[in-house]
Amino acid sequence: MIRSRITGTGSYVPERILTNHELEKMIDTSDTWITERTGIKERRVAEKEQAASDLAYCASKAALKSAGLKAKDIDLILVATVTGDMLLPATACILQGRLGAKKAAAFDVNAACSGFIYGLSVADAFIKSGNAKRVLVVGSEVLTKFTDWEDRTTCVLFGDGAGAAVLEATKEKRGIMSVKIYSDGSMWNLLHTPGGGSRNPASKETVRKNMHFIKMKGNETFRIAVRTLEALVVDTLKENKLKPSQLSLLIPHQANLRIIQATAERLHLPLERVLINLDRYGNTSAASIPLALDEAVRTGRIRKGEHVLLEAFGGGLTWASALIKW
Ligand code: ACO
Repeated sequence: MIRSRITGTGSYVPERILTNHELEKMIDTSDTWITERTGIKERRVAEKEQAASDLAYCASKAALKSAGLKAKDIDLILVATVTGDMLLPATACILQGRLGAKKAAAFDVNAACSGFIYGLSVADAFIKSGNAKRVLVVGSEVLTKFTDWEDRTTCVLFGDGAGAAVLEATKEKRGIMSVKIYSDGSMWNLLHTPGGGSRNPASKETVRKNMHFIKMKGNETFRIAVRTLEALVVDTLKENKLKPSQLSLLIPHQANLRIIQATAERLHLPLERVLINLDRYGNTSAASIPLALDEAVRTGRIRKGEHVLLEAFGGGLTWASALIKW
């Protein structure tokens, strides 16, 4: 049986750090509120000239290097993003050109914070069906360019970054054991960017009304996220006939520490077995899981043969999980 296995990871974050204390000087908020309600202490902010493909390029180079591959070896490139360089073309195509991945097909995946796991699901299907042998999956976001810096309910949450993973076909009994993706579009308006698309094409009016910025009904999203993720992790383990005690590491989407704690508690998983880095990066949407995965690999928190569970919830609404035997 052919499976897909992650053979390399990489990540990149912009150098500029924006702390909660700096935000205190910009808007009516406090380090105490942000820390207690979200767990975030600081986030990275891209330079004016940095777009999603620039961050994706750095993360991809690192992932290819760690897999011991060249860009020309890749058959397919998927970029998960909601903050792509442009509406047209796909950020994945810009990345493909810059990497010189001449034989790779390339397209974007738009599933907000679940985007990276959606990307893994597509990559896994391509590999299992024999349509691709090597796939590069990237999550890259420059959310701070779509953040309303006068809206304290959203601007304290988001940050920029990118993470990437190379997946290769393997006959070994390890790799992606299961990947599940879900959506419920009836609640799309909990989290959206209303302006700039075909519903409200960009105009002076849309810009004046700040419609090009991300809007979120945080409280409602929070409640659905907790409920959905608790059920998702329990079901994923059950389907794979695994007990929580057999899980070496949980890598959750980094939106809110309270959501992460609730999910871990549902599995009776101590926080030492949960990768948490949102204190340093905030919510980087589709980038958050590959950024955390790369950190886990680099710091030796995942070893061969161990089980790792990835889970995410985001705009769409979308949610997803992936169980990996490393
Ligand atoms: N500083 C100080 N006070 C604030 C701030 C702030 N930055 N933001 C909101 N408040 C105030 C509110 O105005 C409100 O005041 P009021 O009671 O006087 O009206 C109070 O704090 C509580 O506001 P809530 O929105 O109820 O706060 P909550 O505890 O829900 O925390 C948060 C807000 C952090 C956004 C939380 O709801 C959350 O994390 N939601 C889920 C986010 C998520 O998972 N999104 C999906 C992924 S993101 C993606 O897909 C791109």
